[in-house]
Amino acid sequence: MRMYDIIDKKKYKKKLSDEEIRFVVDGYTEGSIPDYQMAAFLMAVWCNGMDEEETLSLTMAMAHSGDMLDLSMIPGTKVDKHSTGGVGDKTTLSVGPIIASLGIPMAKMSGRGLGHTGGTIDKLDSIPGFSSDISDERFIEIVKTVGFCDASQTKDLAPADKKIYALRDVTATVDDYSLIASSIMSKKIASGADAILLDVKCGNGAFMQDVSSARKLAECMMNIGKLSNRQVNCMITDMNEPLGNTVGNSIEVIEAIDLLKYGFDSDKVDKRYSDIVLYVCREMVLMSDIFKNEKYENTTEEEKILEAERIVRETVEQGKALQKMKEFIAAEGGDSNVVNDYSLLPKAKYIYEVTFDRDGYLDSVDTKEVGMASLMLGAGRLKKEEEIDSAAGIRLYKHLGDKVNKGEKFATLYTNKEEIIKEAEVRLLNAYKVSEKANSTKNVIIDIIRQV
Ligand code: URA
Repeated sequence: MRMYDIIDKKKYKKKLSDEEIRFVVDGYTEGSIPDYQMAAFLMAVWCNGMDEEETLSLTMAMAHSGDMLDLSMIPGTKVDKHSTGGVGDKTTLSVGPIIASLGIPMAKMSGRGLGHTGGTIDKLDSIPGFSSDISDERFIEIVKTVGFCDASQTKDLAPADKKIYALRDVTATVDDYSLIASSIMSKKIASGADAILLDVKCGNGAFMQDVSSARKLAECMMNIGKLSNRQVNCMITDMNEPLGNTVGNSIEVIEAIDLLKYGFDSDKVDKRYSDIVLYVCREMVLMSDIFKNEKYENTTEEEKILEAERIVRETVEQGKALQKMKEFIAAEGGDSNVVNDYSLLPKAKYIYEVTFDRDGYLDSVDTKEVGMASLMLGAGRLKKEEEIDSAAGIRLYKHLGDKVNKGEKFATLYTNKEEIIKEAEVRLLNAYKVSEKANSTKNVIIDIIRQV
C-alpha cells in the first residue's frame, strides 16, 4: 500500500477502505508517513469529505492508536461530557461535582485551550496544587472514591489525534465534519465512558457557525457512537455570545463554584450559564443508571425528565455538589479551601475597569474577538506550548439585549501585562454592536437530540 495512491484516491472522491485508513493513521502516528503527505491527505478529505463508514474507520483507527482506558472495574454506567469548544465555557467545572454528588460516576479527560477557545484543564490548573497529570490507576481510583475525576489527555491516549490535530491546526483543515467528529469521538472512545453527552456549540464563537452545521456534526458523532456501542446524546447550544460573566481561568473557576454555592436561580449567577449546567446535568442523569430501577418501571419519559431536573436542583440546594467540588479538588492535589476563600486563587497585578463608549442596546458580539481579547491579556495561547496566565481574563457586566450607556461600567480586565490593556480594551469594545431597540435574545439551548 502506498500513501501516494491513497491521497490520489481521495482527491478523486473515491471511498477509502478500513485497511487504507488504518494504514494512514498508523503510518502517520509512528512516523513513516511524513507531514507533507498527511497534509495533502487531510486537504483531500476536507475538499471531498468522508462517508459514515470512512469516518467510523478513521475514529476507530485513532482511538486504537494508543491506550484504551478500561473502566470496567468501576460499577455502573460511566458518563462523560464533551463540549466542542467556545468562549467562557466552564460548564464541566459545575457539572462534574453535581453529577458525582448524585452517585453517578463521571470519568472525564479534558483538553487545554487553543486560540480563542478556553480549555477546562487550564482553568483547573489555576487552583493551587491541582494536578490533572495523573496515572490511569489514580484516575480510576478517584472516579471510584469521589465520583468525578478530570484528567488531561495523556500522551498515550489517542496519540494519532494529538499529532493529526496539530497538523490540521496549521493546514486550515480543522473545520471538517468527519475530521472534527473522529477527533472528538476517538478520544471519548479511548477514555472508556459508556454514555457520552456532547455539547455542540453553535455560533460565531464556535467551530460550527450555524444550526444546520451543528446538527450535521451532532448526527455524525451520534452515528459513530451507535456504531461503536456507546450511548451518545447531543445538545446544540448557542455560542453567539460568551457563556456566563467571565472569560479566563481562575475567574471562571470562581463563577463555576458560585453556581454550586448560590444555586440555579440566584441573581448572582448568569441565567444562560445556569441553564446550560442544569440541562447538561439533566441529560446526563437520564443517561445514567438512576432510572434503570424497578421504582421507575411505570414512569413516563416526561416524568423522568422532570424528576432528573428536580434531583439536580436538590443536590445543589442541599450543598452536596459544593461539598463534592471540595473532595474533587483535594483528590487531584488542589487546595480545597479555594471554595470558601477565592483570595487563594492567583490574582492579577492590573485590574482595569472598562466603560462603554456608546448608548444603545447590545445587539450582537463577535464572540471570537472577546476570546482573543482575553488571550491577549494572557488567559490563552496561540501555540500549544505557550504558557498561560491563570489570573488573566475578562469579567463582563452586560449581555446581549441589555441597555448600555456611554460611560457606564461594562467589563473588568485582569492582566499582568500593563502594556496590552488599551489594545485589549479597544478589541473588546469593537467586538460589540449596538442597536436603538432591544432585540429578542436567543435561548441558549437550541436543541437536544437523544439516541433512540
Ligand atoms: N475538539 C477536538 O477535540 N477536535 C476537533 O477537531 C475540534 C474540537
